[in-house]
Amino acid sequence: MSGEVILRGEGLVKSFGGLIAVNEVSFNLYRGEILGLIGPNGAGKTTLFNLITGFLKPDRGKVYFNDKDITGWPPHRIALEGVARTFQLVRPFLRMTALQNVMISALSKVGGLEEAEETALELLEFLSLSDKRDWRASSLTIVERKKVEVARALALRPEVLLLDEPIAGLNPKEVDDMLETLREIRKRGVTILIVEHVMRAIMNICERIIVMHYGRLIAEGTPSEISSDPKVIEAYLGGVM
Ligand SMILES: Nc1ncnc2c1ncn2[C@@H]1O[C@H](COP(=O)(O)OP(=O)(O)OP(=O)(O)O)[C@@H](O)[C@H]1O
Ligand SMILES: [Mg+2]
Repeated sequence: MSGEVILRGEGLVKSFGGLIAVNEVSFNLYRGEILGLIGPNGAGKTTLFNLITGFLKPDRGKVYFNDKDITGWPPHRIALEGVARTFQLVRPFLRMTALQNVMISALSKVGGLEEAEETALELLEFLSLSDKRDWRASSLTIVERKKVEVARALALRPEVLLLDEPIAGLNPKEVDDMLETLREIRKRGVTILIVEHVMRAIMNICERIIVMHYGRLIAEGTPSEISSDPKVIEAYLGGVM
């Protein structure tokens, strides 16, 4: 893969006590791609997301966004700079409506209420959630909550979107729907890094995949290269057996 690197990790390390959750991880994310990050449970994927987005500080290593060193910046500053994320455990404000949830996020990027509402309405429309705009998040289904989460991230007008298991828990039709949405998001010029266990989805949507296992990057390649890589097969079989 070549092209312009938009996000780069260099030698990232994060330990929790004696456990090295992320171990010397370096990666490139190229502008315009959808890059998959896979690996068995506990491989360090979410921890890597937390290092990139400022929710955790790395023990060592650097994160560069558009060649700017953003290592250790606070999460809100990284988000406003252009790297937004969703969470593995979706956490909208349950007592607020879908619209309010997205507006709150938009308000950190735009000046006034009116503009925030306009942004939020446009994004809810884009995610086919217009008819649920006044529903409390607590009354929404899983897929709708996940979409609100995506809309909240997009309200920050990011250049890079990090998605932590946006497809887990969805039925096959909802999966296809979400994949189509992700393709549309990419068409809007957003570069995507996605963590997901649903292999059918990852293989379908990513042109490139990186694989973590016990904190380390063990493979990188196209979906077909990854699915026939002995190291990857062993990592997954090791997990089940
Ligand atoms: N805050 C923390 N304190 C202590 N250990 C942690 C913490 N966060 C993660 N870990 C540990 O670090 C390792 C990597 O966890 P992480 O959540 O990054 O994995 P993951 O690849 O996202 O897994 P999953 O696919 O299950 O979401 C695990 O062993 C986990 O228990
Ligand atoms: Mg995780």
